[in-house]
Order: sequence, then structure tokens, then C-alpha cells
Amino acid sequence: MDETGVTETEVLGLLRRIKERDMPFERILSSMCTMPHPLAIQAHMEFIETNLGDPTLFPGTKGLEESVIAMLSALLHAPNAHGYITTGGTESNIQAIRAARNLSGKKNPNVIVPGSAHFSFDKAADILGIKIKKAQLDESLKVDPASVEMLIDENTIALVGTAGTTEFGQVDPIDELSKIALSRDIFLHVDAAFGGLVIPFLEEEYPFDFKVKGVSSLTIDPHKMGAGTIPSSALLFRDEACLGALATSTPYLASRMQHTLAGTRTGASIAATYAVFKHLGQSGYKRIVARCMKLVSMIEKRVADMGIPLVIQPVTNVIALRVDSPEEVASKLRERNWYVSTTLRPKSLRLVIMPHITEEILNTFLTDLREILG
Ligand SMILES: Cc1ncc(COP(=O)(O)O)c(C=O)c1O
Repeated sequence: MDETGVTETEVLGLLRRIKERDMPFERILSSMCTMPHPLAIQAHMEFIETNLGDPTLFPGTKGLEESVIAMLSALLHAPNAHGYITTGGTESNIQAIRAARNLSGKKNPNVIVPGSAHFSFDKAADILGIKIKKAQLDESLKVDPASVEMLIDENTIALVGTAGTTEFGQVDPIDELSKIALSRDIFLHVDAAFGGLVIPFLEEEYPFDFKVKGVSSLTIDPHKMGAGTIPSSALLFRDEACLGALATSTPYLASRMQHTLAGTRTGASIAATYAVFKHLGQSGYKRIVARCMKLVSMIEKRVADMGIPLVIQPVTNVIALRVDSPEEVASKLRERNWYVSTTLRPKSLRLVIMPHITEEILNTFLTDLREILG
């Protein structure tokens, strides 16, 4: 920090210049986040100073959090789910596994996750002292329930399924995992960080939420397909006891108990999520998802014309192209200011078609891709 400050105008000029180094969203086809809805931004700013670290000081904002949880619970077929808004899918997943561990009371716990699970479960394992076992996938990159079943032992405290995998957007057979979980009396967590605000609005139905009896908890992120502001994920539990398993007493605060991982916690992104849910409603999300999926179909046709096969038939708005040397193609695209990612198993060029992507953007992108592939 300098000894004396500079004017606000100078600082803002400085910030604008620095921000120019960031990639503009219209060139990003790799992110699972998007431009927040303008109303979300406005609501965020209205609540910028709120802190749900001590909700008794902010009862209005706390009420907004309860409303968001209630709206998500109803959408996900668990009218009485219990939960809270976290900083992201990572925190929600960590806290879900922490609740399962605390409830189990087991000494050397393990959790079975799909081979395709998000790396937040590796973080959870490290933090919580849990072993992670990775189950095999089938040819369509869904977890193989038989492989999950084979990995279960007396120390298994939870199974995990993903609804909208990070790399390929695939939905695991949550109903099959549920049967296993119920028959073995094991906690089942669904990571719907990405897919939770896509799958309910698709034409095709996929069982993935609390309608499936064995689902104990679920992660869903408004800061991904919800067009909310960062940070906003929700962790939902079917039973209140699971939330109770996360309780810590908070002696010096006006509120006596916390279930959250974070202490100080913004209410701004909660207000943003509330605003965008109220404004868009289910019909608004249906329109957004339909638009993204239409663009996915457009890519499918265009890449088929170019002779590029897909890794799997897209289920959600993630499409993976089987090109030769995907890292090289991604790096050539980067030279033309396009930001795409690559997948590991199998190797492919991965595009996430988020709401900020338009047909015009894709036309320019696909022209560049065609030129690069020759
Ligand atoms: C399926 C899934 N789970 C969890 C996460 C982690 O979410 P976050 O980056 O918000 O912590 C992601 C991120 O892309 C994800 O795709």
C-alpha cells in the first residue's frame, strides 16, 4: 500500500485498464459460469454490506436465504428440504460429505464417487480425512452402478452421483444409485452443481433430485446456469438431522449456532439469486435452457458436416468434440482469442454453451475451428 492514496477516478481508470486483460465472456466457451442477469447485479449491489455470518443482525436477508432454499426445494421435489447458500459447488460438496461423515461415526470412512466426479471431492477427502474410491464409467460416461456396488465395504459412508458432469455434461443413473443406497442404508449425495438448473428444464426427463427416494443431499449452483452472481450454490438435505450434523456453537455471536463452513457470508449473491428466480420463474429458465440446447444442436450439425465425431450425444449444454490433438487445437484457438477447454478421459475439445453464447458467436467460432482443422 502506498503512503498516500489517489483519487477515485484514478483508481477506477486503473481498474478498467487491468480488467481489459481479462477475457471477455463472448470469447469464453469453457466456463460453467455466465454473465449474471442485470437484475441479479442490481440486487447484489443493494445487499452489498449484508453479512449472514450473524443472521440475527440481518433477519430480512436471512428470510431471502430461506425463500431461495424453499424455491429450490420445491423445484427439486423436496418441499421440506433443509440447507443454506454456500460459496460454490465445492463448499456444498465438502459440507455434504462432512455431514455424512459426522452422522456415520465411522473411524476410517470412505466415499464412492464416479470416476468423472468433480475434483471438489478430492478436496473433501483431504480436508475430512476420508478415502475416496472411484467407480468405473460405462461407454456413455455414466457411472456404472455395478462398479459402485463392488466398491462398497463396511466403512462406506456415502455414494455420490453427478447430474451434469463437469467434463461431458452427462447425468449419472441416480435412480440406480438410489436403489443401492437404500438397500445398503448409505447416504447418497447428488452433485447437480451444473445440471441442477438445466435438467428440470430439458424436454427429456432424468430422475436426479429428491423425487428419487434414496437421495439424501444435493448441490445446485445458481452462479452457474442460474445467472446469479458469484458466490452462490445451495446445499440441500432431505432430513434436518443432516444439517444438524454440521452445527457448531458460536458463543460470541447473537445467533448461537452455525451450520455453515464460512463464518462471514455475503447476503448479496443470495439477494441476486432471489431476484433472478422471482423474475425468470420456471418458464424463464425453460427458455434459457431451450436456447442453449438449440445452439448445442446447431454445433452438432455443423461439426458433423466437418466430419468431427462427438464423445457422447449431448445430454445437457456441454458438447465434446473428438478432434486429433485437442490441446493443440485449443492452443491455436487461444491464439485467435477463443477460450475452450480439453478433457482428459477420453481426450476431446470441450465446449460449454452457456447463456452468454449466441448463434453469431458460434458462427465465428466454428469458422475459426474449421480453418484450424484445415
Ligand atoms: C459438477 C460440478 N461440481 C462441483 C463444481 C465446483 O463448483 P465451484 O467451482 O462453484 O466450487 C463444479 C464446477 O464446475 C462442477 O461442474
